Amino acid sequence: MPDGSQRLEATFKCRKLSAYFGDRKIVREVDLDIADRKVTAFMGPSGCGKSTILRTLNRMHESAPDARVEGSVLFSGHELYARGVDPVDVRARIGMVFQKPNPFPKTIFDNVAFAPRLLGLARTRSDLERRVEEALVNVGLWTEVKDRLKDSALGLSGGQQQRLVIARAIAAEPAALLLDEPCSALDPASTARIEELIASLARRLSVVVVTHSLAQARRIADAIAFFHNGEMVEFGPPGQLFEAPSDPRVKDYLVGRTG
Ligand SMILES: Nc1ncnc2c1ncn2[C@@H]1O[C@H](COP(=O)(O)OP(=O)(O)OP(=O)(O)O)[C@@H](O)[C@H]1O
Ligand SMILES: [Mg+2]
Repeated sequence: MPDGSQRLEATFKCRKLSAYFGDRKIVREVDLDIADRKVTAFMGPSGCGKSTILRTLNRMHESAPDARVEGSVLFSGHELYARGVDPVDVRARIGMVFQKPNPFPKTIFDNVAFAPRLLGLARTRSDLERRVEEALVNVGLWTEVKDRLKDSALGLSGGQQQRLVIARAIAAEPAALLLDEPCSALDPASTARIEELIASLARRLSVVVVTHSLAQARRIADAIAFFHNGEMVEFGPPGQLFEAPSDPRVKDYLVGRTG
């Protein structure tokens, strides 16, 4: 939930946003506003384009061969697809976390220190250590790893690795965080932790999360965008979308998922 300032302007404004792999149009002319400091969930059947549209929001989509984007994405008023914008800078400002945790084959410390080092955020060694600790505290991992920061990140459990990867992303001080099914490989306890983390992150930045879990969307989303075959067919708060969906494709999906 937002703090007292109630600053609700859209962080992302997508206009006629389309994405292709070769000739296949995967995302179809999506108009979507994603509010600042809220959790927005992307839902819809497998293959409908959720991951693809998520990847257009930080210019990740075009890193795949044969992939391209049409239309516009304004991020805090700036066109991400303007000529001269470096996709690498965009990806540094808008963090991304994937379904399968992907820690670097480095120590726990070096994973979290990676972006502060790359971006030159830390002025001194102790500043760097402070940033690493803070990010690990924020994801609820600090007490579990503080005595093994020099161990390989690959020795952590799946749930710990996912929290580490989120710590790595937030250590870059991103302005927004995109999470693609971050809990699908996790047990209920780790899932609950990540959901709490998402809620606390959304006090500071906008969070977009792809999920197949209706229960999860109900728990964490302020707004849900529902996609079908590359089109956004419904957008609204979870209550409205779950209790009184206006699009029959949303109804069908809900029946299939719950019945
Ligand atoms: N690298 C790729 N090259 C070509 N086509 C792709 C590529 N990645 C995805 N697609 C196609 O784009 C469409 C949308 O895929 P996408 O991964 O965005 O769906 P999704 O909604 O995230 O599905 P899921 O819920 O299964 O993760 C699918 O038809 C898929 O086959
Ligand atoms: Mg996907």
